[in-house]
Amino acid sequence: MDKPKVFVTRVIPEEGLRLVQEACDAEVWMEEVPPSRETLLTKVQGIEGLLCLLTDEVDAELMDAAGPGLEVISNFAVGYDNIDVGAATARGIRIGNTPGVLTETTADMAFALLMAAARRIVEGAEYVKAGKWRTWGPTLLLGHDVHGATLGIVGMGRIGAEVARRATGFNMQVIYFDPYCDPGKAPFVDVGLRCTLDELLAESDFVSLHVPLTSETQHLIDAQALAKMRRTAVLVNTSRGPIVDSEALYEALAAGKISYAALDVTDPEPLPPDHKLLTLDNCLVVPHIASASWATRTKMAVMAAENLLAGLRGEPLPHCVNPD
Ligand code: DGY
Repeated sequence: MDKPKVFVTRVIPEEGLRLVQEACDAEVWMEEVPPSRETLLTKVQGIEGLLCLLTDEVDAELMDAAGPGLEVISNFAVGYDNIDVGAATARGIRIGNTPGVLTETTADMAFALLMAAARRIVEGAEYVKAGKWRTWGPTLLLGHDVHGATLGIVGMGRIGAEVARRATGFNMQVIYFDPYCDPGKAPFVDVGLRCTLDELLAESDFVSLHVPLTSETQHLIDAQALAKMRRTAVLVNTSRGPIVDSEALYEALAAGKISYAALDVTDPEPLPPDHKLLTLDNCLVVPHIASASWATRTKMAVMAAENLLAGLRGEPLPHCVNPD
């Protein structure tokens, strides 16, 4: 029997890729940068399964270009804002994602960014490399204490809850804003005080974002929100870039309305090297690597492969975004 035809839009860790290649007639995009839109539209023609990344826009046009044989779209990510779920559901195409396995790794990164911002780690390293370290200085590179500070978590889902748990180990006060979470249910950890977004912005020394990107959360952190934050506050974003209005963030950082931003995700992404956020000393940007540990990316690859293969066999996806 012929193996199902699939397109894999980038090289994923070996353990997952091997599963796909053994079971399918798989074409894999081998380059570092994603296929162009035009190429993607061509590559998907006649496929039954698509294993894609958050960098691929999977919309109705792309699904129609694939044709009626497309059974399953497996996203190598927990977030799936790159996929038009309504269009897929309308066509009977199931969507898989990779929840759970990257929760702790992403929470680790949010905390690493928080610490790096508070204690000026990157500035310190650059200072030493630039040959500026001449002596121990009483006021050299002073930062802010993490212990005893207030952490505001926007979005008390799986990752937000793990960041909260880490914060308790540092003796921080945790407050959170989440209109949807149910304090009685997992993954909630009972370590914070629920408040409004305005209260959170006004009271937090650190604000960490953990909401999915939806029409409701796009630019949740805009000029008005930034104006409500403390002048000493640090903003950490490991969720999705467009949750923050980049223009407003630049203005707030440049004018000293908040003290620092530490970003794993940006809008646009990737951030062009001449983007004005990169001209600021009080903005730390890393290239969307919050889930980038060897173990986690391997687990994500296996999960993405298992979702794809289950969909191709006509079985329920282990992790399905649109099961109904
Ligand atoms: C996700 O999975 O949504 C992250 O942004 C990348 O791991």
